[in-house]
Amino acid sequence: MSAFHKILRETKHYKTEVDPLLLGESDVEVSFVGRSNVGKSSLINALCQKKNMARASQVPGKTRTINVYEVVRRRWIVDLPGYGYAVGLKTEKDKLGKIIEDYLHARKNLAMVFVIVDAVAGPTQLDHLMLNWLQHYNLPFSIVVGKIDKIKIPKLDERKRQVAEELSLNVNDLLWVSSEKNIGIAGFQKVIAQLLQI
Ligand code: GTP
Ligand code: MG
Repeated sequence: MSAFHKILRETKHYKTEVDPLLLGESDVEVSFVGRSNVGKSSLINALCQKKNMARASQVPGKTRTINVYEVVRRRWIVDLPGYGYAVGLKTEKDKLGKIIEDYLHARKNLAMVFVIVDAVAGPTQLDHLMLNWLQHYNLPFSIVVGKIDKIKIPKLDERKRQVAEELSLNVNDLLWVSSEKNIGIAGFQKVIAQLLQI
């Protein structure tokens, strides 16, 4: 096992916060966004080889907090609330959620925002809104397509092409993963290790 695998396994829950302005400072952090239930917390668990560190939600959209996981001191993986399940009347500008937007505006040492997209649903309108928003504010982002185990193997290449095309990207510009079947996780760990410089 290489050094960064071991280090990722030492990741611990560090804090839960509702106000992004109270998070304190990191030296470097990467964060996970995506629609509710897309598998953000499961992916963080898979990356850190944990069963239940990041709580996989029972009820979608219930996570209204920012959860910080510390890989090593001041190097963080941040799990953000999911978007798309918000209740009540929402204006266009509120759709992604104030917590998410405030967080993204506030962080000085944000090395990457991973936008998680569902392999079956493909990029939703809100995913496109999120991506446009990140581009507009010039924030670093990468797109990760999750739950690829739900696509049957013979259909997978075709599905990859479709999803990439919907995002106007090449298949190789995206990360393709399954937390459940541990597909693509090793490659994703390497990306995170490089960003967090572990
Ligand atoms: P919120 O916190 O509500 O935003 O959800 P989340 O994005 O953190 O999703 P979570 O990790 O809680 O997973 C949601 C559901 O998807 C759970 O029932 C998981 O078991 C399931 N799930 C997560 N990853 C995968 C995967 O790779 N494959 C399959 N088939 N199911 C998955
Ligand atoms: Mg979650």
